[in-house]
Amino acid sequence: MKIAVTGKGGVGKTTISSLMARRLADRGYKVLAIDADADANFAAALGIDIKNQKGQPIAEMEKLIEEKMGTGENTGQGLYTLNPFVGDIPKRFSIHHKGVDFLAVGTVKKGGAGCYCADNKLLKRLLNHLVVHRQETVIIDMEAGLEHLSRGTAQGIDAFIVVVEPGQRSLETAINVRDMANDIGVKKVYVIANKIRHEDELKLIENYLEGMEFLAVIPYSSAVSTADLEGKSPADFVNEELIKTIDLIIERWN
Ligand SMILES: Nc1ncnc2c1ncn2[C@@H]1O[C@H](COP(=O)(O)OP(=O)(O)OP(=O)(O)O)[C@@H](O)[C@H]1O
Ligand SMILES: [Mg+2]
Repeated sequence: MKIAVTGKGGVGKTTISSLMARRLADRGYKVLAIDADADANFAAALGIDIKNQKGQPIAEMEKLIEEKMGTGENTGQGLYTLNPFVGDIPKRFSIHHKGVDFLAVGTVKKGGAGCYCADNKLLKRLLNHLVVHRQETVIIDMEAGLEHLSRGTAQGIDAFIVVVEPGQRSLETAINVRDMANDIGVKKVYVIANKIRHEDELKLIENYLEGMEFLAVIPYSSAVSTADLEGKSPADFVNEELIKTIDLIIERWN
């Protein structure tokens, strides 16, 4: 399965991605966890001590981008390879931790004075490779929206999970993702309602997102916020209840 987790900023994408990846690994799945967010913190949420590891996002590895794309000082301006080989990247740059292989990809760059065409081409091709050609379960922690994925990559993802929290803007993001997903023909979009404290909040969310399929409801958890305060993985702080919920998610998408 190839799963992409999206949603508005701060809703809990990274938390939930890490809980799923670590639980899948505990259950014996081969898991590749991908950080495709600009504000990279998936590694920390998985419990990886990034200071002592290689862990720089591929998007920021200028030398690698030059090597792969045939760009750099001595090459023609604006010329680059259209089909760079990316199959070696996961093995060269992933970090193994508690049964999870982790790769920081980073995100497509926009705007500014320069053109990031070659960089973006490489990232899109790498994501496509991870989604279309890898055999293991892939969990991608993404930013909101699907614009930065190529059509082929979006269609290769088995399920998009949109995380929402009690708050109008996260619900609007979920609607946008659903509409975009319909436009480009992705297979499945699920909702996870996170940080729920009251039944009323859930009712409101369900009303707003009527017609969308809910995968799970995750209550507001002081264990999760304590983990974050202490800079630890929420996966090391879970209680029975939360593990059951994560198991439910894993079983439902399968
Ligand atoms: N169920 C929960 N209960 C309590 N706190 C939570 C829960 N889920 C997430 N949080 C907290 O909410 C904050 C944001 O979570 P997280 O970083 O996972 O969100 P995100 O969507 O990945 O954010 P960003 O858009 O910045 O990448 C963190 O402090 C996290 O500990
Ligand atoms: Mg995040």
